[in-house]
Amino acid sequence: MKITTQTIRKLKEERPIVALTAYDAIGARLAAEAGVDLVLVGDSLGNTALGFANTIPVTLEMMIHHTAAVARANPKSLIVADVPFACAHGSFDRVLENCAALIRAGAQAVKIEGGSEMADTVKKLSDAGIAVLGHIGLLPQQYHKLGGYRKFGASPDEFDSLLEDAHDLESAGAFAIVGEMMDHEAAKAVSKKAHVPLIGIGSGPHCDGQVLVFTDVLGLGTKPPPFAKQYADLGAQARAAIAAYADEVKTRKFPQAQN
Ligand code: KIV
Repeated sequence: MKITTQTIRKLKEERPIVALTAYDAIGARLAAEAGVDLVLVGDSLGNTALGFANTIPVTLEMMIHHTAAVARANPKSLIVADVPFACAHGSFDRVLENCAALIRAGAQAVKIEGGSEMADTVKKLSDAGIAVLGHIGLLPQQYHKLGGYRKFGASPDEFDSLLEDAHDLESAGAFAIVGEMMDHEAAKAVSKKAHVPLIGIGSGPHCDGQVLVFTDVLGLGTKPPPFAKQYADLGAQARAAIAAYADEVKTRKFPQAQN
């Protein structure tokens, strides 16, 4: 049965939620076949598959293109598409049109970076029938403003404001919230207080689920973050396979002559 936002909400009471990014039909098919609950077409598309330094150059058109590819795999997993840099801001008509384009491309929900400051937008989207996954803690789209990536929630002020962010997003209708690079105690407190799941990345073991980036899990990335766990070294396997192919072509072992 297809996983819905309601399934994800209910899982909070049952077991940790498994989420993974995917950027194309191959990734989505593999993730779904492996039992991933939620496939996130993350804007990490930019710094993985597309070779950018960060997520900021990713456009709505790129996200639509890759969301459609993921949707064509028809995965059982819930498909969530990231709203890329600056596309959740401006007039509500513009934001609605941007999110609707991602839903038309095949996403069942959109993810929007930001806490309390985005609650009004999340409420209006929710009222318009668009399911929203919140995103608090480190917001990679703020890279230039922050001057880099860091942990959030270690100071009492940040701890409190993360709790407020989660409360406001939940009240606005978010079906779940991603918490990126949150202090582990802050993540624990948010998970305990919120009625919707907190899906962590680099936020420790007390979240209601975990999300990782496809290339980090499979050893296909170049700069995995320290909190990521690599479960396979497909990079090394792919290099060896391609080198064997290249060698056989150069030495005329492949293809074989017809008999
Ligand atoms: O784009 C992405 O991959 C994300 C995850 C880090 C949650 O937003």
